[in-house]
Amino acid sequence: MRRVVVAIDGPAAAGKSTVAKIVAKKLGYTYIDTGAMYRAYTWYCMEKGVDCEDHDACIVFVNEITIELKADGTVLCNNIDVTRAIREPRVSANVSYIASYKEIRLFLVEQQRKLAASTSVIMDGRDIGTYVLPDADVKIYQIASVETRAVRRYEENISKGIECTLEEIELDVRKRDYIDSHRDFAPLKCAADAITLDTSYMSIDEVVDAIIEIINKKIKELEEKDA
Ligand code: DC
Repeated sequence: MRRVVVAIDGPAAAGKSTVAKIVAKKLGYTYIDTGAMYRAYTWYCMEKGVDCEDHDACIVFVNEITIELKADGTVLCNNIDVTRAIREPRVSANVSYIASYKEIRLFLVEQQRKLAASTSVIMDGRDIGTYVLPDADVKIYQIASVETRAVRRYEENISKGIECTLEEIELDVRKRDYIDSHRDFAPLKCAADAITLDTSYMSIDEVVDAIIEIINKKIKELEEKDA
């Protein structure tokens, strides 16, 4: 079977990870949540009591951080289970600063490329199709209206027992979209060869089916080319 690399990018809370996880499971691919890596780094800076807006103070930790993404979704930072902590609003509110620092991006991108080097993967993030895996076989840019995304993230947090308000989530989503798409290095943007999927009025199952259809179509094209 040929190795397939799928990149899913898009703004905050567009439902990328929910859908990517299901698609990966159905197709037997490895799912890589790159946002979790930026979140774990952010968590670590906060644990160290460092201001995430302080570039110089944050970048030094590239020398002491190890981040591990387990197959069951567990995220370890220096062997501490941070799976739940990295989803807290305080981490969400600071992660875009951390993700704007080039030194930290280069450190994490190197690991992301290694993770995608030998198996079929679905990797989601902001710069996967444009920077991390520019040769990905399938590139999807998943979007939804800000209001829809805020409601989705709010309901997800509440179901996980994470306290928040809808207003707070909508503000966070807008702020992160702005910082993520205006940073200098590898900003959030749609790759020229990506397929845009507006999921505002789609259910999770519909998005999963649409992505699997896109992947299968691409595999068929590649196999025809190989033949
Ligand atoms: O996907 P997420 O909301 O968990 O991502 C958290 C933050 O990390 C997001 O605001 C931007 C940043 N990020 C990034 O800059 N590049 C990626 N490949 C993934 C996430």
